[in-house]
Amino acid sequence: MKNFIPRPWILIPKIFGVNLHCEIKGIEIELNKIKDEYLNILKNENFKDHSGGAFLGGGWGAIGLKTYGGDPYIDYVDDKSKIAPTRLLGQCKYINDLLNRIPGEKDRVRFMEVKPSTKVFWHYDNNETIDDLDYNKNARLHLPVITSDEVKLFLCHQDTKWTEGKLYYGDFSFPHSIINNSKINRIHLIIDTKINDDLLNLFPKEFLQGIYIRKKIKKICQRSCNLFRKLKLIDG
Ligand SMILES: [Fe+2]
Repeated sequence: MKNFIPRPWILIPKIFGVNLHCEIKGIEIELNKIKDEYLNILKNENFKDHSGGAFLGGGWGAIGLKTYGGDPYIDYVDDKSKIAPTRLLGQCKYINDLLNRIPGEKDRVRFMEVKPSTKVFWHYDNNETIDDLDYNKNARLHLPVITSDEVKLFLCHQDTKWTEGKLYYGDFSFPHSIINNSKINRIHLIIDTKINDDLLNLFPKEFLQGIYIRKKIKKICQRSCNLFRKLKLIDG
C-alpha cells in the first residue's frame, strides 16, 4: 500500500522537468587503465563497509585513494585530520594523473562498491551540490568503472543510467537511492573536488541554467523524504 502513495521528491522534479545530473565532458579517460589499477588494488585489499547509515547489512563499501588522515579504510570526513593520499594512490599512476587533470583541489577519492541485491535507501547529502556556487564545497563526480543496466541509481525521478568510463556529476543534495539488481559488484570511482571556475566551465550550460529551479524545489524534496521516513512510508 505504502508504495502507491506518490513521493513528492519524485513527482515535483518530474513535473518541473528538473535535471539533477550531467556528463562532464572534455577530460580524456582511458577506462582500461582505471580498471587495471582497480584490479591490481583488489589483489591485496578489500572493501570496508561505508560509514553512511542509509542501508542495511553491508554491501556498500569503500576503498580510499584520498581520505581524511590517509587511511584507505577511513571513509568519513574527520575534521581532526587533513585530507591525504593513501598508500594505495601510489599504485594508481593513471588515476593520479587523471585527478590532476580534473579541475579543483581534491577532497576524498574512493572506489565504492555496491554488491548484488544491495539496496541503499532514499536519503540526501545536503552539501553535495554545486548549486550554492560555494567554492568551499565539493562537487561529487562519479566515474563508473564496472556497472550494468540492472544497477539503478535514482536521483529523485531520474534513473541516471551512467555508463562505464565517463565522468558524471550528480546533485546528491536531492534524495537518491541505489538498487543493485545485477549479479556483479558495481564499482564507481567517486571524486570529490572543490568547486572552481575551471570546473564549472566543464558543466553543460543548460545544467547551470537549472540552478534556479533546483534551488526552488530542493527543500520540499528533502523535507518530504524526511517525513516519509518518519512515517515509515519508506525504508531507512
Ligand atoms: Fe548519498
